[in-house]
Amino acid sequence: MTTRGRFITFEGIDGAGKSSHLDLACELVRAGGHEVLRTLEPGGTPFGQGLRNVLLHHAAPATAEALAMFAARSAHVEGLIEPALAAGRWVVCDRFTDSTYAYQGGGKGLDATVVERLEAIAHPGLQPDATLLFDIDPADAAERQRAQGRAPDQFEGRSPDFHVRVRNAYLERARRNPARIHVIDASGSLEQVRAAVAQVMKRLLA
Ligand code: TYD
Repeated sequence: MTTRGRFITFEGIDGAGKSSHLDLACELVRAGGHEVLRTLEPGGTPFGQGLRNVLLHHAAPATAEALAMFAARSAHVEGLIEPALAAGRWVVCDRFTDSTYAYQGGGKGLDATVVERLEAIAHPGLQPDATLLFDIDPADAAERQRAQGRAPDQFEGRSPDFHVRVRNAYLERARRNPARIHVIDASGSLEQVRAAVAQVMKRLLA
């Protein structure tokens, strides 16, 4: 019988630098002898990618955004994530439902119970086995993004207050789910953050 793969998600405010560590996580999973699927949200399927193009370029009321995020997520889970896990592959996903709690919930004020209801429809029974939350002060993250000369999408272009609320919502999720969510201090040097990521991944692979 095939052993089910594990589902790992990466989270954090914009500019926290998580994307540069996804490669390392995937390398470590492969080195541990597992096949890995790397994917992202919103996106992951052609349907989800279409919604991503809308979501990143057009702001909408929080409920509409959450519904679209979960529409993309539902297709992603059913079409890609679940089949991969069932086939024994590990899945490393750049953002998942914690992002909706943080951005549409914390950032845009959508009631968490609404997110909970949508979550129960879109992926009943599926939760990440582990989540790496890259935590950084939004002012430092914004500085990083400026230094990289990145053009902001509609979320990245929001006010500093918005990003503070997103960060706080993430930290609250981490407090409520301490066994799943590993908070990584993303303010350190690249090497320090890599070491912290490697430590969490090694524990998961052990
Ligand atoms: P992306 O370019 O993938 O940014 P990053 O590299 O920071 O992940 O943009 C994804 C944006 O979508 C990001 O600003 C967070 C936002 N988002 C939500 O608001 N809700 C969600 O449920 C998800 C998955 C993403």
